[in-house]
Formats: sequence, structure tokens, C-alpha cells
Amino acid sequence: MKIEMNPEFWNEICRISKELSKEDNLLVVSHHDADGITSCAIMVDLLTGLEKDTEFMTIKQLDSNTIKNIKDTDRTVVFTDMGSGQLSLIKENKIKDFYIIDHHTPEASHEKQINPHFFGYDGGLEISASGMAYFVAKSLGNMKMAHLAIVGAVGDMQDSDGKLHSLNRIIMDDAIEQGLLKVRHDLRLFGRQSRPLTQMLAYASDPILPGLTGNEAACASFIQNLGIPLRENERWRTYVDLEFSERKKLTTALYIHLLDLNTKEFIIQGMIGEVYTLLNEEKGTELRDAKEFATLLNACGRQGQPEVGVMVCLGDREKNWRMAKNILQKHRKMLREGIEFLEKRGIEEMENFYYFDSQGRIDENIIGVIAGMAYGARIIPPDRPILAFADDNDDPKMLKISARANWSLIRKGLHLGNALREESRKLDGDGGGHDIAAGARIPKECRDEFLKNIDRKFGEQLRRSV
Ligand code: C5P
Ligand code: C5P
Repeated sequence: MKIEMNPEFWNEICRISKELSKEDNLLVVSHHDADGITSCAIMVDLLTGLEKDTEFMTIKQLDSNTIKNIKDTDRTVVFTDMGSGQLSLIKENKIKDFYIIDHHTPEASHEKQINPHFFGYDGGLEISASGMAYFVAKSLGNMKMAHLAIVGAVGDMQDSDGKLHSLNRIIMDDAIEQGLLKVRHDLRLFGRQSRPLTQMLAYASDPILPGLTGNEAACASFIQNLGIPLRENERWRTYVDLEFSERKKLTTALYIHLLDLNTKEFIIQGMIGEVYTLLNEEKGTELRDAKEFATLLNACGRQGQPEVGVMVCLGDREKNWRMAKNILQKHRKMLREGIEFLEKRGIEEMENFYYFDSQGRIDENIIGVIAGMAYGARIIPPDRPILAFADDNDDPKMLKISARANWSLIRKGLHLGNALREESRKLDGDGGGHDIAAGARIPKECRDEFLKNIDRKFGEQLRRSV
């Protein structure tokens, strides 16, 4: 069945896009993660295609500090993947001409703001910021970046139950129709394109594969027992190198393996579902698979070089692509070192969560990723969420906290974003995020009080659903 957009929403997008197309001298300001980077690239491609003088800038978040770098611009500002939650901040700072193209919960309406929430769409699931940017471009006749909007949606985990939904599917169909994308029903483990088979299984964290995740030797014999060769000549084979019959054999075996271990049905089902292949990208590269592409962009953002990601999205396969691959390698090395540090140091526990303090040894920008991976490496049992502490890069008196959970805990009522927001604010900090991934900043001296309070809060959330 073909999905259609609410026509009122489409009219609103067309109205605002038309206004935007009359502007010149623009500054696109976007978020530094995969959805922000793809939104930025879609917008820059659109505006330069319309022969507008356009600059861009990617930032970690829009707050009273970062807005100082924007407020004096004489350009018209286009905020993508941010702005809806900071409308009052933008107004207070008297930014004259601006547009907001966002999918986060809005503070209030504004005549130059495009946000799906006003038309009954859930910006957490049905559409990403890059999707909104794509619809703006589409309304002005430019559909050639549809695949990037899929990368953005996947980067924001909008496919985490096995498929894309609603407005994202309209974009998906546009991308398929233009020959940019292929969608298959297949195994959804990370690294299908670029990781050797054993590593794909050993690093699987979503879902965790009991007995396999974290154990490369067990993964190698699991695959070999199925009669699937790990190498082809000297080269390690990846999932996409496998014959159709081999793929089927591996997928079925994993399915049965999880069933045997009483894994919940919904978790197993999340492992098999839609995978998105970017047809114009070279096979075996990170860019060929939407999930791996998104990870590459997230690495650029977290390593402080999001503009390299933007240039790759805009088509540079020379200098910036080489740089992006180096950034990804450096990122992976930092993650490996972080995990090793954590393995040595061990974790501590409270009644309702685990935690560890990196004491300045892990950068605040990657501490959250390490916390998430620690589930995958089985350093942390999946029965409780994890909190991780790092030094704040900007303010030595503050502590950065990253929190991660998994779908089983979310189903029991856990919401990390709400818990961290409420408890950090009580201690003069700030925080927020998603149910499954969140962060906060608190004064260092409040650490122990925070631990106590958040333990009680998680306890309340988890018991509420019983
Ligand atoms: O949205 P925030 O920057 O935008 O979240 C980024 C982090 O949250 C990433 O590490 C991502 O992997 C994680 N995340 C997640 N599950 C979600 C949403 C975000 O693990 N559903
Ligand atoms: O930094 P980290 O990857 O742990 O962030 C996870 C999520 O928490 C992100 O969506 C981020 O935007 C959010 N967060 C927040 N406030 C903070 C830190 C992180 O809302 N102080």
C-alpha cells in the first residue's frame, strides 16, 4: 500500500520552501551526528543547486554558548536537526532571519519552522531531520539525495524494530524508484558490508548473541560448522560475499540458536528485517550499507570533524573520503582502548544499574558509545542499564554522564532520558535524551547524591510497569 503524506503538511512544506528559495546568503547550522550531517548535506546540495551563496556549520548542540557563534551572522540561518527545542533561545539572541527544519519536540510554532509534530507525526519514529530536509528539497524539485535521508533515519535508529515507518517509507520508495536504494529482508547485524563474518557475529550487540557475542573463536566454529568457509583465497569473507544459500543457512542457524536459548521473540525478530543498500556506492565499503554509512558519519561527528562527513555526503570520494576512513579507524581504536580500560577496571553496581567512572581516561564524546558497546562485549550483563562518567571537556567542575539500556529494559518501563533530565536538574545540571540512550551533566561534587537518586528513579520506573 502506498503511503501518502497529510496534504496540509505537504502544503506547509511547499509554502516555507518557496520562501526559502527566495533567500540568498545562507548559513546552514546542523547537529554533528549522522542525522544532522545528512540533513546539512541535503540542504547544502539543494541551496547550492539553486545557486545560492551557502555556508554550513555543524555543532554538538545549540545552547547559550554555541549560539554566540551564530548570532552575529548577516546570513539567513537554516537550522536543521535542531532549533525546534530552542526557539526561545533563538529569539532571545535576536537572530533576524532563520528557518527551522527539525523533527525534535517543538517548544512553539513559528511561521518558518517545519516540524512533523504539528501534523500528528512522531519525529522519533516516523521521520528524521534529514527526511524533513529531503521533503523541502523534493518540494523544490530536487530528489537526488533521498538515499541520504534513509542514512539519517537509520542513524537515528528509526528502523530499530526491523523496518522504517510512515513518512520514512515515502522517502524509501522515492529512493528505490530513482535506483538509489535497494531494500531487502535480511540479517541486520552491523558490519554486513565491511566486517569479516566472525567479527560481525562477535561484535553483535543488537541483539546480543549469547555464547557468540564477545567470543571470536566461538563465532568462527559456529560459522564453520555450517560448512561456510571464512575465507576466500587470502581474503576474509563478509556477509555480502556469501551466496544466497549460505546467507539463508547462517540466518536460520542464528534464529534457532537464539530460540534454543529462550531469547524473546521480539528480540529475534529485530535481528531480521529491512536492510538498506546504497546502489551507487562501491560494494564492500561502509558507504554501501545505510547503517554502516551512518556509523561512519557518527564517527566524524564524535571525533570533532563532522564537516568531513558532510563533504562525503556531498559526493567527495577523494580527500574527504580518505580522511573519513582514517577518522573511523582512529575512532575504532579509541573505542577498543576504552573497552580494554573498562575490562581491566571492572564495573560497579547499584540495585538498579551498573556504572563506571573513566576518571579522565575516556573522552566525553565517546564514553556513551563505549557504554553501549560494553553490553555487546558482555562486560555488562543486560539485566540493568549502565551509566558511565567522563570529565567534561569544557568545564573541569562538571561531570559528563552517558547512559545506555536495551529494548528488554525499555519494555519494562525504563526511560533513561526522562530519568536523567529530572535527576540532573535537581542538582543544577542538565540532561535528557531517548528512552534507550541519554546523557547529562552534573557538578562533580554531586556524583554520589546523583547515584543514589537515579537508583531510586530507575527502581520506580521499572516497578511501575509490573
Ligand atoms: O540522539 P543522541 O545524540 O542524538 O543519541 C546518540 C547516541 O544514542 C548514539 O550513541 C546512538 O547509538 C544512541 N541511540 C541508541 N538508540 C536509539 C537512539 C540513540 O542507542 N534509539
Ligand atoms: O553523549 P551521549 O551519546 O551519551 O548522548 C546520548 C543522548 O543524550 C543524546 O541524544 C544526547 O543529545 C542526549 N544528551 C542530553 N543532554 C546531555 C547529554 C546528552 O540530552 N547533557
